[in-house]
Amino acid sequence: MIIAVDGPTASGKGTIASSLARHFGLPHLDTGLLYRAVGRQVQLAGTDPDSESDALAATDFPDSLLDDPELRSEVSGSFASRVSVHPKVRAALLERQRTFAQREGGAVLDGRDIGTVICPDADVKLFVTASLDARTDRRFAELKGQGRDVTRDEVHEQIARRDERDMGRKDAPLVAAQDAFVLDTTTLDKEASIAAAVEIVTQHAR
Ligand code: DC
Repeated sequence: MIIAVDGPTASGKGTIASSLARHFGLPHLDTGLLYRAVGRQVQLAGTDPDSESDALAATDFPDSLLDDPELRSEVSGSFASRVSVHPKVRAALLERQRTFAQREGGAVLDGRDIGTVICPDADVKLFVTASLDARTDRRFAELKGQGRDVTRDEVHEQIARRDERDMGRKDAPLVAAQDAFVLDTTTLDKEASIAAAVEIVTQHAR
């Protein structure tokens, strides 16, 4: 069984994907980490994330980079979003994601284009979303909890900018696949979101 989970930043898709993987006993690939590693590699090399050739050169990052805690930062998220607009970067990361998806027994992948491009034949597709305000509140609370010095307005602006770039790019923009189940977590807490996702997969797995 292949489960595709897509959605915008701070929608809860990562938590939902890892919980689904645990519940159904499947391996999980957070595909955003691959783009974050490319962004981080560009940053470490001091090259330009907006240049397709510089970003493409960074796609042969060492595997050890995937364990770098810095990948989780907002800066890496923003670099990831910038390198991810380049078609050659997306093409370079495609095979790795498909190979993971085609493991025997299945897999859960989360990202932006899993249901539309990477696994168009996934058994179940979830599009996890939430209002911009709800996503801002969650991310703001998370950053405050880490002792970060940010304002809610700054977080709101960062998320809006990331949405714009991820949804507005020409190649594989963030959009719900036509056959995806939309799960709006605006008014749901973590447990309720996970329960709703498990229910959808249980009902609709082919
Ligand atoms: O899910 P995330 O926040 O870790 O993703 C970081 C960026 O990577 C996101 O803003 C856009 C890009 N990305 C993508 O283009 N396609 C994916 N399947 C996953 C992430």
